[in-house]
This record gives sequence, structure tokens and C-alpha cells, in this order.
Amino acid sequence: MKPILDVLNGHTPSVPPVWMMRQAGRYLPEYMELRGKAGSFLDLVYNPDFAAEVTMQPIRRFGMDAAILFSDILVIPQALGQGLAFKAGEGPVLPPVRTSEDFQGFYDVDIHKTLSPIYQTIKNVRTMLRDEGYDQTALIGFAGAPWTVACYMVEGRGSRDFINTKRWAYADPDGFDALIDLVTQATADYLIAQADAGAEALKLFDSWAGILDEMLFERYVIGPAQKIMAAIRAKHPDIPVIGFPRGGGVMYPRYVRQTGVSAVALDQTLPADWAADHVQTLCPVQGNLEPFCLLAGGTALEKEVKRIKSVLGEGPFIFNLGHGIHKETPIAHVEKMLDVLRED
Ligand code: CP3
Repeated sequence: MKPILDVLNGHTPSVPPVWMMRQAGRYLPEYMELRGKAGSFLDLVYNPDFAAEVTMQPIRRFGMDAAILFSDILVIPQALGQGLAFKAGEGPVLPPVRTSEDFQGFYDVDIHKTLSPIYQTIKNVRTMLRDEGYDQTALIGFAGAPWTVACYMVEGRGSRDFINTKRWAYADPDGFDALIDLVTQATADYLIAQADAGAEALKLFDSWAGILDEMLFERYVIGPAQKIMAAIRAKHPDIPVIGFPRGGGVMYPRYVRQTGVSAVALDQTLPADWAADHVQTLCPVQGNLEPFCLLAGGTALEKEVKRIKSVLGEGPFIFNLGHGIHKETPIAHVEKMLDVLRED
């Protein structure tokens, strides 16, 4: 079995398999070149030839153990009918959804019409992995979790405090629940379609899980993940699913127990030894190198890679960052990280 899938099924290899969040991106010159040819980020995402090529770039350069589909979590709002643009230097921009009326038009939309090029990308990557001899590399599909996707749908952009989203969740829980339910259903359909197309594992990114209190974490992080897991399991009983409730802290064990995910990604704020005792005893884990430690390099990087490997590598563990790689990260630091990880 491919090493990543082996770990996700609970096994412990002698050297942890590795990939990086955002491994296909702006720190790679070959990515910048292809993005220039495509025109924009979204032109890359919706072109299955370009998107597959970009997905393969970090595999060819570093021999990562997993390829992650090149796409974005915000294709779901776009497929539902909310506009989406990526402005240079600004990130994503959407016309905000702030009341129940604003999303009535999103019901009865066939999201697969917009998303079908992404399913084609998955098919292309599986073919390329096979044809280029990467028979130990697994392809991971992904989606944003409903809470995080809703944050962008409601704010219309990134935010420091997500004031409009949180105010709506407290002031009008029924209205906000309806938005979360709509996104939950679309996300489950989307992930199932990715598995149908050939994704070998799936990941649910809840990047803003860590800004919620206990009540809202249960309701908007755990609840939707439970429903998505049930829907996936009905169609694909065995596909591994990695949950990523970023910033979830002491809520991680509860998230694992209640959602039934196969594994969890650990952000860099979670102490590795705490995670070994309280999370890895429940399921395989992935993480949790601080991306800025990788950016900085040097002896701190070497020490951290060794420390994380020794603390978590005794059990089922996939080495990764605690969040996406920063675009200013030198490629030599990634190579160093891999050398240190792979040496005995
Ligand atoms: O390599 C991979 O990990 C796969 C591709 C991937 C992207 N986005 C590509 C991307 C994945 C898994 C994502 C997830 C994503 N997108 C998340 C969840 C994970 C996280 O980072 O917290 C979120 C919150 C988004 C939304 C998003 N997309 C933002 C806020 C931005 C702008 C910030 C930025 O880094 O520019 C994006 C753009 C984006 N998504 C880029 C890439 C490679 C950069 C686009 C470019 O300029 O080329």
C-alpha cells in the first residue's frame, strides 16, 4: 500500500511519509511560470491540464509522498452561484452573503456543472502519477469545511475577527444554520465526486475552527463534519478522511471522537507531546512544523524536524507543516527538511 494510505490506516512505518500544505504554489518558479501562462489563479484551477501539471510539480521536484489536488476551498461558493475573484495582493473577494435572502438562489444549483473540470484534474493526476512512475504517491482531494467557507461567504474576503459571520451566528442561529446546512450538503457531494473521480484520500480544511467558543465549535465545526463523514461513508466506506480543525487546541480529541474522521492534521500551536498523548492515541496524525520555522531554516529547522519526528514518529504519523508553506520560503529549506526527516 502507498505509505500515506498505510499510515492513514493506522500503521507506523520506520520513516514518516511527508507532504506540505500549499506545496504547489508561489514559492516554486515552475508554478509562477505556469500561472503566468494561464493568466490567473482561477484560470489555473479550472484548466484540468494546467491544474494537473501544477499538482505534479512538487512531486517531481521533491518526491513528496502525497499529491494534493490543485484547487481552492472557495470553488464551492462559486459553484453555488456566489461570484468569486482573486485580486492580486488581496486574496479572495466575493459579494457578501449577509441574510437568508442573499442565498435563496443557491438552492437547486447543480454544483457539478462548475466543478467538473476539477474532477477531470483528478483523473489527469492519477494518470500522470502512474505514467511517470510515482506508484507510491497518493492523491489527496479536499474541500473547505462549512464554517470556514461560510466565513469567506459572509465577510466577502479574509478578515481579522469575522465580525459579520459571528454576529449572524449568534443573532440569527436559524438563518445561519440554513447557510451552514446548504454548504454542508454541497461539500459532501463535492467530496464524494472527488472520490468517484479517483482521489485516494480526502481532507477537510477548517482553517478558522480555532476562533469559536465551545458551543459554536460543537455546532459549526463538529456538527457539519459529522454529517459530511456520514455522507462520504455511505458511498465510500473505506476512503481515509483527514480533518483539520486548525487552532482547535483541547477540542481536537472531541473532534476526532465525534466526527469519525480517519486522521487529523495538527496546526503548529498544538504541542507535539500533548498531541501524542491525547490525539495520536485516537487516530493517525499529520503535522505540525511551524511554516515560519521552515521559512527561517538553519539549526532551528533541523532541531524542530528531529523533535517532531521523534515525538510523533513512534505512532502513525505523516510529517507536514502546521499550515500552508509561506511564499517566501527558500526551496533549499524544503530540501533540508526532507533530508533531515529521511535520515536515520
Ligand atoms: O498545494 C495545496 O495545498 C493545494 C491547493 C490549495 C490552495 N488553497 C491553493 C491556493 C489548498 C488546499 C487551498 C486551501 C485554502 N484556500 C484554504 C484552507 C487552508 C488554509 O490555508 O487555511 C483557505 C482558507 C483558502 C482560501 C484562499 N485561497 C486564500 C485566503 C487565498 C489568498 C491567500 C494567499 O495565500 O494568496 C487563496 C489563494 C490560493 N489558494 C493560492 C494557492 C496556491 C495562491 C494563489 C496565487 O496567487 O497563485
